[in-house]
Amino acid sequence: MMNETFTIAGVTFRNRVLVASGTFGYGDEVPELVDADKLGGIVTKSLSMKPRDGNPAPRIAETASGMLNSIGLANIGVQKFIDEKIPKLSSFASTVIANIAASSVEEYCAVLEALDPFKVVAGFEINVSCPNVKEGGLSFGTDKVKVALITRELRRRTKKPLIIKLTPNVTHISEFALAAESEGADAVSVINTLIGMAIDIRTRKTRISTITGGLSGPAIKPIAIAKVYEVYRAVQIPIIGIGGITSWEDAVEFLLAGASAVQIGTYNFVDPSAGVKVAEGIKLFCEKQSIGNVGELVGAMEAQRSLSVIESWL
Ligand code: SIN
Repeated sequence: MMNETFTIAGVTFRNRVLVASGTFGYGDEVPELVDADKLGGIVTKSLSMKPRDGNPAPRIAETASGMLNSIGLANIGVQKFIDEKIPKLSSFASTVIANIAASSVEEYCAVLEALDPFKVVAGFEINVSCPNVKEGGLSFGTDKVKVALITRELRRRTKKPLIIKLTPNVTHISEFALAAESEGADAVSVINTLIGMAIDIRTRKTRISTITGGLSGPAIKPIAIAKVYEVYRAVQIPIIGIGGITSWEDAVEFLLAGASAVQIGTYNFVDPSAGVKVAEGIKLFCEKQSIGNVGELVGAMEAQRSLSVIESWL
């Protein structure tokens, strides 16, 4: 019997494929489109204390093999999530992770404390990496002291899995993973989007309102895999790999580089059932290779470490 499961801080996920924050709503909108119970987990859109309208339109633009977004953390706010979404999520078989974004350490703590009592919220992914807001987001995620402080304060307030979602918009992401690990994070999500920009040459306007946005999709996959590998070499805690996955083959690449699990993001907009297909594909691949536990793939790439540039950063 193939073992597809994995565990973070005592919480077991039915398989190693989750859907990424911001690409699957709050998990309750999709039952007609996809059997969400077949996913390893669902990560909600970032939740803040108060509802947020987000940035003005246009806030999405397609680019070569990718997508720029500048949503600005639009969300319904934690109270509406509790009142309207949690009752629907309670029947889900897959694990629900609440993603939290905030403009201050106090706000992160308040949102986490509001959600912590609810059993259906199995854990937290902390967004310290949104490139589209002036307060919070990258101003936290590019400062190791702040990443450590936020992790420490949240760790004191929950026993549930605490996953810090890191930005690639830094020189050495492994230093930020270490900061999170040293303050008690149970896992890190690697990576959030890369800062990008596109200009309409006819109107001479940028294609999204905030000029820059976060680049996601297949265009960033090789970058994401390199970041996963760098973090894997630096920390002991599990890594959830994110960035441009469209197929089970992509997901296996992330696992081999050191991810314990993956999240499907932008590709959900092309095929909302991508996560289920990726999980099935990984299972079949393992069966064909006589691998009894998907976890055997984690970090199992053939590494030519002596040639690795990353090693010298660690
Ligand atoms: C956004 O809401 O602007 C995107 C979220 C993120 O990049 O973390």
